[in-house]
Amino acid sequence: MCCSQGQQRGWAGKAASTMTEKQRPCVIIAIDGPAGAGKSTVAQRLARLLGYRYVDSGALYRAVGWLVCEHALLLEDPAALVAYLQRTPIELTFPNGTLQVWVAGRCVTSQVRGEAVTHAASAVATMPGVRRVITAQLRQIGGEADVVMEGRDIGTVVFPDATVKFFLDASPTIRGQRRLQEMQQGRSSATLGQVVEAMAQRDSQDRARATAPLMRSPDAQIIDTTDLTVDEVVQTMLSEIRRVLP
Ligand code: DC
Repeated sequence: MCCSQGQQRGWAGKAASTMTEKQRPCVIIAIDGPAGAGKSTVAQRLARLLGYRYVDSGALYRAVGWLVCEHALLLEDPAALVAYLQRTPIELTFPNGTLQVWVAGRCVTSQVRGEAVTHAASAVATMPGVRRVITAQLRQIGGEADVVMEGRDIGTVVFPDATVKFFLDASPTIRGQRRLQEMQQGRSSATLGQVVEAMAQRDSQDRARATAPLMRSPDAQIIDTTDLTVDEVVQTMLSEIRRVLP
């Protein structure tokens, strides 16, 4: 059994000395990097292999983006948005190893992948108040189970003491191709050029924001996935995890 609330790793204080024999800290595998670097695919595969919970932190920012679009909330008024967020339950559930996104009791798992929501998610992710709410929620999830958690600030802000940290990256063209493939499953007619440009814009917003910008934690292992297969990335990660968690 892993830790209970309040007994998480570093961010909540070093709890090791207060743990009972049967308890151990939850394992947090943190995977950060820009969109299209391959985080979701390898994080899901890794979670399945390890028997851990897969947590897509971007899904929570997307849920907030969905709220903005659905209720025509104003991005120019972050305080009102945060107040709205505080009275609107957003939940991730994990049936059969998959991840579902719920907003106020409504399942919005597929809706949060649309273009308008993607754009709104990037905007709300710049708001410190929104990040505070979501960071607290992610810490709670990571305190309840062993997780593979992917995002932009997992190893730097959410869990600076994560058990193992990775930072995935890839060339802009490869990242654009991966994103385009994903979008075409949803029947988008966007071109590669348009996708690469939109990604570059969101990336610079993610990297330049004042609060929790996208950056590599100094102790994260960098993996450039440009020329690697999913299997090769997963095997590289597994050997690092096995080295740390024998
Ligand atoms: O990973 P994604 O594309 O689904 O994330 C959606 C948005 O949320 C994206 O603009 C980056 C942002 N995000 C973030 O700022 N911090 C995270 N930990 C995860 C996502």
